[in-house]
Order: sequence, then C-alpha cells, then structure tokens
Amino acid sequence: MTHFLDLHKTAPADLRAMINTAAAMKTARAGAPRGTPDADQALAGRVVALVFEKPSTRTRVSFDVGVRQMGGQTLVLSGADMQLGHGESIADTARVLSRYVDLIMIRTFEESTLLELADHASVPVINGLTNRTHPCQIMADILTFEEHRGPITGKRVVWAGDGNNVCTSLIHAAGQFGFDVTFTGPEPLDPEPEAVATARAAGAAITIERDPVRAVAGADLVVTDTWVSMHDPASTRERRHNQLRPYQVNEALMKAAGDQALFMHCLPAHREEEVTSAVMDGPQSVVFDEAENRLHAQKAVMRWCLGL
Ligand code: CP
Ligand code: NVA
Repeated sequence: MTHFLDLHKTAPADLRAMINTAAAMKTARAGAPRGTPDADQALAGRVVALVFEKPSTRTRVSFDVGVRQMGGQTLVLSGADMQLGHGESIADTARVLSRYVDLIMIRTFEESTLLELADHASVPVINGLTNRTHPCQIMADILTFEEHRGPITGKRVVWAGDGNNVCTSLIHAAGQFGFDVTFTGPEPLDPEPEAVATARAAGAAITIERDPVRAVAGADLVVTDTWVSMHDPASTRERRHNQLRPYQVNEALMKAAGDQALFMHCLPAHREEEVTSAVMDGPQSVVFDEAENRLHAQKAVMRWCLGL
C-alpha cells in the first residue's frame, strides 16, 4: 500500500517526482477557469474520503477541489459525526472505509491514530496533519519556493518560533531534498530531536540559533507558524506568547534576513502575533501562492498514492 504518511518515510526520488508532477499539472491548468476539469481525468470513478478530527480551511478545500478537478468524488467526514468519535475502533473504521472508498485523507490528533488507520486500511492513507507532522504543507512549500527561486537543494531555510508539527515536516524535508534548516526559538519549544537526528543523518545541516537576527542573516526563506497549535492546551497560551514574542517575523527581521529571503506561513496566521501584516502583505511574502499550491501538490500526492 502506498501511503503518504511522512516525508522521511517517502523515498526522495518519489518526493521529487511528486513536486515535478505538481508543477506540470499546475502549468497545464494555467489560465483555465477554476472549475475546468483536468484533461486526463485521472481520478474518474474514484471516491476519496476526507476525515477531519480538527478544523481546516485549506486542507479541506484544496483536497476537495483537487479531487474534483481530476474527475473524482469526495466525502468530507467529521470525525465527531462518525462512529469513530463514539467508540468504534480506528482499525475497524479503516477496514470499513476501505470497502467503500479508494483513498483516505485524515487530519487527526495523535500520530498513532494515523498509523493505526494506515496499518488496517487496504487503500492508501494520506496524512492531512497530526500533532506531530504536516507533510502535505511542506510539499506545497517546496513547490512554492522552487517556483520563485529554483531548486531548493543547497538552500538555507530559517524556522522562527515554535518547533511544532509543520517545523518537524520541514526538518524531515531538509534531509530528503538536501537543504539546511536553522531553527530560532526558545529552548522549551525546540524541534523534535528525533526529526533533527534523522535529517542530520541524511546530510542536512540543522542548526539551533537563539538569536533571531543572527539566525535569519542571508537566509533564502523565513518560515513561521502560529504560536499555539490546535492541539496545544489553551492554558499554555500566555506562556507561549511570552516565550515567542522575541521571534515575531516583522519588517526589522526580514530586513536582517535580506532582500533575497522569501517569507512563508502555512496559515491560518495571527496577524501582529507571529507575523506582522507588513510582512504578510509585503514584497517578500508568498503566503497566498503557498496556500494555492496545497491544491497542486496534493493532486500529485494523490496520483502517486494511487499509482497514476
Ligand atoms: N495550512 C493548513 O493546513 O491550513 P488549514 O488548517 O486551514 O487546513
Ligand atoms: N501548527 C498548526 C498548523 C495549522 C495548519 C496547528 O497544528 O494548529
């Protein structure tokens, strides 16, 4: 079964092929009205289940629209409304869904839920975000970077803020695509050591620099994300804001980075918290290209999962 669970679990050549497919499919649609079907209708006759145990705007809409463009159909399911949310096991849910649909995308809390679903499904499973990782987001980010700056291999990306799930997938990608990551944030919110070790073993330089100004100097890309993720207890909000305020991405920090640096954020953004509007809407920001590219990147991921 060809699951898309995490970037470090997917062969670098396959990841590269998906980025190339995404770029080609995007180019093929360029200028076409949004509802125009893709010429080859690769998903004709197929049904994709999109299961959400957490809120979503981009993941939900981009997967749904992507499937439709490729001629398939979707079922958008809220975990809370399924028997899954009322005691049915993950394994049984996987077995049952596999009898109806061709592909399952799930956004959930614990990574173990994703892994158990994949273990018991007889159709491919895609990770649409867990507390630990968000690989689809980083595929879109790489597509976006390369559209603006060419190959990401050998570049240096700075992550500013919380070493969260999106950061972990970025670090996984560094090992697979061959770029370096500098993390700048407070020590209690450092990135996951296991991901750092995996990326280093694959040859990527992963550096921790507590001074954000020093961290960003000469960077090719500066990335941040919310200071409080969906799975973080609300009670941590004040402490996290105090810890992370020095790592806000603002005009001064982007000036310290230099004009060559792009700015990305997976969104949703909390303007004037982790990023200022001046940066979000400024000349270095590519956040809305990044959001669009979720669509193109995930279409390529779905094709890869289905061997199309
Ligand atoms: N970036 C991202 O995954 O956004 P949503 O939470 O809106 O899906
Ligand atoms: N780190 C964020 C990403 C949202 C797309 C979260 O998990 O809430």
